[in-house]
Amino acid sequence: MNVANDIAVDHYLSSLLLEWYKIEKRDLPWRRTGNPYAIWVSEVMLQQTQVKTVIPYYERFMHRFPCVEKLANASLEDVLTVWSGLGYYSRARRMWEGARYICNQCGGKMPENYDSLLRVPGIGKYTAGAVASIAFGQGVAAIDGNVLRVVSRLLAWPEPVETVRSYRHFNDHLIVWQPALQPGNFNQALMELGAIVCTPTKPDCDDCPLAQVCEGYLQGDFLRYPVKKPKPQRQEVTRLTFVLRRGNQVYLQRRPDQGLLANLWEFPGVELNQDHSLKESLPVIAYEECQGFFQKAVPERTYDERLREQFEQGLTLHGPVWYTFSHRRWKIIWAIVDLPVLEQIDVSWLKESGKDYGFDPKEIYPTEEKKCWVSLQDLSVIPLPVAFTAIVEFLHSGQHNPD
Ligand code: ADE
Repeated sequence: MNVANDIAVDHYLSSLLLEWYKIEKRDLPWRRTGNPYAIWVSEVMLQQTQVKTVIPYYERFMHRFPCVEKLANASLEDVLTVWSGLGYYSRARRMWEGARYICNQCGGKMPENYDSLLRVPGIGKYTAGAVASIAFGQGVAAIDGNVLRVVSRLLAWPEPVETVRSYRHFNDHLIVWQPALQPGNFNQALMELGAIVCTPTKPDCDDCPLAQVCEGYLQGDFLRYPVKKPKPQRQEVTRLTFVLRRGNQVYLQRRPDQGLLANLWEFPGVELNQDHSLKESLPVIAYEECQGFFQKAVPERTYDERLREQFEQGLTLHGPVWYTFSHRRWKIIWAIVDLPVLEQIDVSWLKESGKDYGFDPKEIYPTEEKKCWVSLQDLSVIPLPVAFTAIVEFLHSGQHNPD
């Protein structure tokens, strides 16, 4: 049977899928609303993140930013803080930019169709398709990774799925399959099928409502799909990280607003390529690299000597822990550098850090400089990348305390 060319099969396929969805769909918070803003938030969070991880973040985010205006009027800092732990932080920044655009250019009202949604910065084809179909009932496709996998198996599509040609091919089929009255349910049903039945490595074809119309299954070769282009190798680098500590405070700096982990706070550090990661050379490199950060963190030159002494006495390196980005893998090694305590240096620029949620780095270090000293308790309200979780836990555990 050629699934693609048979109108009766097209109709059959969508009714099988919708029947299944009606019974099997999970009760998820964003499925209890027709609010386009809420659906937008959920769809952005669900990109690259599993449903069970997303749920608490979604609830918290909606509680804190219940409408597009609240999001637009928040500081990026606050948005990143609420997002903290979910990863892929550029999603949060782009959504915040999108919210500002909607408030400034669209009178604060979510655009109501695919084309106008696409004009919002940060909203791409997938998100525009999902919001337009789920919230506004527009007959458009929403093709994410799950849908690509399901459709490539249904069609036994022999080409790499990442190409424009494959995308167009899938889009054409989806539009034909999609029932005019329930485009949102149809799109969500495909996503759901991909998430719980047609999974990447162990699809449950015995329980699949579409097995009988699935070319991949009928050919007995479903794991061949989706066909992918060969992946470039992930680059592996050693990330030497410095925890400058002074009493109960640690030094953080903010990453640039472009590139990897943009805008997030971090413990300073350097990336070393493999040649440098030899055990013997690390302490020397560590000292040289650390000096730069030290001088930014503590402008008083008189303490340079203390820093050198600490390194000479043999600073312990901790780790490694691994953190994987899409194109890079960090081997994180960290050194704790204990600096002279607070009373010994001029702290006239340093205010008490905010309590509870009131952390504002500008208050602590009232210049435009992107750096601050922060207490261990306040670390939890700062958007620190998950890559550093092990270091924060290490600090909280009290290991390697000076006394
Ligand atoms: N993945 C992406 N969007 C989704 C949705 N609306 N429901 C379940 N999983 C999803």
